[in-house]
Amino acid sequence: MTPLEFTIGAAYLVSAILFVVGLHLMRAPSTARRGNLVSAGGMAIAVVSTVVTSLLTAGGSPWAWGALILGLAAGGSFGVIRARVVKMTDIPQLVSLFNAVGGGAAAAVAIAAFVLHVNGTTLGPIVTVPIILDVLIGAVTFSGSLIAAGKLQGVIPGKPISFPGARVVNVAAVIVALGAGTLSIMSPHNVVLLLIVLAAALVLGVLMVLPIGGADAPVIVSLLNALTGLAVAMAGFAIDNQAMIIAGALVGAAGTILTLQMAKAMNRSVGSIVLGGFGTGDSKATAGTADQDAANIRQVTADDVAIELAYAQHVMIVPGYGLAAAQAQHEAADLAKLLIDHGIDVTYAIHPVAGRLPGHMNVLLAEANVPYTQMLQLDEANAAFDSCDIALVIGANDVCNPDARKPGNAVSGMPILNVDHAKSVVVLKRSMNPGYAGIPNPLFNDPKTGMYFADARQALDDILIAVKEYVTA
Ligand code: TAP
Repeated sequence: MTPLEFTIGAAYLVSAILFVVGLHLMRAPSTARRGNLVSAGGMAIAVVSTVVTSLLTAGGSPWAWGALILGLAAGGSFGVIRARVVKMTDIPQLVSLFNAVGGGAAAAVAIAAFVLHVNGTTLGPIVTVPIILDVLIGAVTFSGSLIAAGKLQGVIPGKPISFPGARVVNVAAVIVALGAGTLSIMSPHNVVLLLIVLAAALVLGVLMVLPIGGADAPVIVSLLNALTGLAVAMAGFAIDNQAMIIAGALVGAAGTILTLQMAKAMNRSVGSIVLGGFGTGDSKATAGTADQDAANIRQVTADDVAIELAYAQHVMIVPGYGLAAAQAQHEAADLAKLLIDHGIDVTYAIHPVAGRLPGHMNVLLAEANVPYTQMLQLDEANAAFDSCDIALVIGANDVCNPDARKPGNAVSGMPILNVDHAKSVVVLKRSMNPGYAGIPNPLFNDPKTGMYFADARQALDDILIAVKEYVTA
């Protein structure tokens, strides 16, 4: 082993250790930020080591140097700029775009490795199997993630899109991809077969994601994230890069666990997702079109809410996507602090898929310095609703829709926050518009529910002023 190989190997080992430590720190909200930094440090070491190795092995070729520097500058600046300007609520699209880039890059690496080896004699199954799997998984992830990003951004309709015979085309694409892949492994110098695998996988990615709609989008984004990791790990095997193998395996494993947890939280079956049975019960969901009985509701004012809050013993705040959209986390935390100072017990009920990205509510509330001890997870919160005097729902809808307990609608079977078990409910939202799943919410027509129609931030400001009058009077 040369000194350079030893140094690069040691650098990859350090980055792998940092990835694992970073992931470990990400388990708890209080250490997650540090975990992110540690993992980013590991990735920086891995990237620098790879670039240095590539430059040294590329010798003096100005093309190789130019391509590396251009790639680093373009990718690095795109990542930094997008991550800095992206709105919190647009992060799922960005994650999806990153999945597409990761999967596409992994597939491109495999194709390059194949083409470089094609005239050599060293192309045995140890190299061809990961190459074919990489092209297959990477291309599915690339096209699937682009469609998912388009759907989340609203460029492609969010509702399930299908056409007669879609299943047949799906099965045909799988057969063609696997058939051409197997032939490629048996006859490892045939670029045409590799391109057939690529084309079939790209079609498969599109057909896999188009029929998904409504509430199933988070699960598929997470699944594609896991696939990106697998593709990167395969690319690592194809070009013998340990950092890629370890980082890819970690992303694949973490993404798979997240997919399983989210599917469980939404009562969706990952098996049916993988087999193409997306959108269980989703066909009835058409975002923004649900009609809800607006006449049969009880509207309340800031004063009404303030009186209820000031005389309560236990208040449960239920944040949802509207809190994020209004950026009202600081106002919510201020109101909670005022109530706590007045001797009222205040907790937050966190649903695993509230908002638009995993951990969305935890991140927002942490930003407003809400102590983690006040954030109750689904089961803890549900155990507390029965003894709760008032549930203050701030821009949440689907995650507290009691219709999830009934069959035949877009949220059927999704575990929900039992907000309707609280003695009294106040909902802050702007209108009777539905949430992400596009269906009415009978909670809003419940006689014990008071509706306060306003932007969440404005509503909380008004309530805060009104509560101050009662608690200081
Ligand atoms: P939603 O069901 O989407 O409801 C959000 C509500 O917030 C809407 O009814 C909306 O009503 C209200 N709202 C929007 N802007 C507001 C503002 N400025 N002020 C006050 N209210 C505002 O949210 P949820 O209960 O958090 O459920 C999340 C949904 O998103 C689930 O269906 C979940 O499956 C899906 N999803 C989740 C994720 C992840 S991983 N968390 C990712 C993608 C999709 P108005 O328009 O009337 O104000």
